[in-house]
Amino acid sequence: MELGLQGRTALVVASSQGLGKAIATQLVTEGANVMLLSRNEEKLQKIQKELTQLNTGNVAYTVCDITNTEDIKQAVEQTIQTYGIIDILINNAGGPTPGTFEQLSDENWYHSFELNLLSYVRMIREVLPHMKKNGGKIINIASSSIKEPIPGLLLSNTFRVGITGLTKTLASEFAPYNILINTIAPGRIATERVASLDNMAAQKRSISVEEVQKESKATIPLGRYGQPSEFATFATFLVSDANTYMTGQSFLVDGGMVKGL
Ligand SMILES: NC(=O)c1ccc[n+]([C@@H]2O[C@H](COP(=O)([O-])OP(=O)(O)OC[C@H]3O[C@@H](n4cnc5c(N)ncnc54)[C@H](OP(=O)(O)O)[C@@H]3O)[C@@H](O)[C@H]2O)c1
Repeated sequence: MELGLQGRTALVVASSQGLGKAIATQLVTEGANVMLLSRNEEKLQKIQKELTQLNTGNVAYTVCDITNTEDIKQAVEQTIQTYGIIDILINNAGGPTPGTFEQLSDENWYHSFELNLLSYVRMIREVLPHMKKNGGKIINIASSSIKEPIPGLLLSNTFRVGITGLTKTLASEFAPYNILINTIAPGRIATERVASLDNMAAQKRSISVEEVQKESKATIPLGRYGQPSEFATFATFLVSDANTYMTGQSFLVDGGMVKGL
């Protein structure tokens, strides 16, 4: 299959670890030029070095806090200055603060709104004028909570659903410019975030992390957590030339975890 990613430019948000890093890695492997983005310059420098050694696509980075509008404007500007174009935007973010209704303050709600929903809107707003010229692909990373609320992750259960409404609406608004936009929802992919959630659950219930993981894996028909590279493979397909007709959709990458139709 011809992916046509050679020489394409991708801005991969929240790519210093986990899902973002895995997607950036696969895009570079396919010959794309990538702009890495997160708050941590040290980590970004390290990944830039690692990926540059692949000798496939170019790799640059921009330090950006995606809860800050000015930072987002500057990151998109830097991507344009570096590569002249943005063909692909991967919208991603850190996870929201876990908690039930009575545990969450207004401050938690505002922060998660900015981090997990508004940052996607702001990023798309800045990228859009550039993408309108030549078309493009946008991926919004959400969570399996878009299909089935996760106990104790109320902020995810609320704001991720907003991402699906955003994606579906923009698919129609952007179609005349040949900009295809989709949501991908991870189930349990083995990243630092999932490891830390498992640790928190183990501490709270005074059981071992292994026990938490065993219970969690038992809910997944494939019987294991996904690897970040498995998630990245699907994202890479969706943003490639191989996808010409899928837009406005929400796709689960969850090993069969969500049981609803
Ligand atoms: N992994 C899963 O199975 C799973 C399941 C459901 C949902 N999700 C969601 O998918 C997203 C990615 O998951 P992950 O597992 O890869 O998470 P992760 O391992 O915690 O990585 C989060 C990334 O977000 C960056 N980040 C956090 N806050 C930021 C900010 N204000 N500005 C810029 N970058 C920021 C972090 O970089 P810096 O710290 O360097 O800034 C890091 O690169 C998260 O929202 C997570 O909740 C993941």
